[in-house]
Amino acid sequence: MSNIPKGQVHFLLLKIHSLTGLVPIGLFLTLHLLINSLRTVGVLPYQWSIDAINNLPFLIWIEVFFIYIPLLFHSFMGFYIAWSGEKNAIRYRYPRNWMYVLQRLTGAVVFVFLIYHLGTTVAPKLWYGHHLFEAAPFLIDIMNQEFSTWTGRIIYLVGILSVTFHFANGLWGFCVSWGIIVGPRAQRNAGIVFLLFGGALTVLGVATVLEFSLHPVDVEPSFEGAS
Ligand code: HEM
Repeated sequence: MSNIPKGQVHFLLLKIHSLTGLVPIGLFLTLHLLINSLRTVGVLPYQWSIDAINNLPFLIWIEVFFIYIPLLFHSFMGFYIAWSGEKNAIRYRYPRNWMYVLQRLTGAVVFVFLIYHLGTTVAPKLWYGHHLFEAAPFLIDIMNQEFSTWTGRIIYLVGILSVTFHFANGLWGFCVSWGIIVGPRAQRNAGIVFLLFGGALTVLGVATVLEFSLHPVDVEPSFEGAS
């Protein structure tokens, strides 16, 4: 490591930061919003999806290595970039620079949202030891309570809007910085595609919030005593 020039380490860290935003974090987010939106189909499909996840072998290790470590790396590296970077938008009044400012801002909002979100879902689940088939009724009960207040709904709507913007705009930045989209026309067209993709993810998230808020339903464990 000591033989590698400092500039190359910095470059490598930036590339890993960019890559982790796409895989595994972006992939997880897309699946997470899709799976949660099963709630709009009915409470049972949603419960079964939580059952399936919570009955995976080595779940905690899958979560640590594929979600929490990449998420922590991406967040702290993101804060470092935002803190050490140029404040372009103040110097050049150009829409892309404003997008970059929004990218940093939404990153910080998502980080705070995640502390709240994990603190009210995964943390109590682990703390009270609700594993396997006991996890779904416990988590669905928490969701019903959170979405019963305007504060809860607004926190989730802000979290969802921030994360879908951050991900869609981040995908555009990823494609530009990795040389996937080069010319101005390709970049404009890709911008439209990612806007539509971000919009679709937002619709999934907002529909889930609406469904939980309008039709809260309690559930029993799918298999009594199976845990
Ligand atoms: C309608 C919106 C959402 C709902 C209903 C929801 C629901 C849940 C639930 C129930 C869990 C616990 C899963 C379990 O332990 O089995 C969870 C975990 C998680 N959520 Fe969300 N979520 C929503 C939005 C988001 C957003 C916008 C993000 C990204 C910023 C996010 C990121 C996470 C992460 C990282 C975990 C931990 C995953 C794990 O440890 O398996 N969620 N969510």
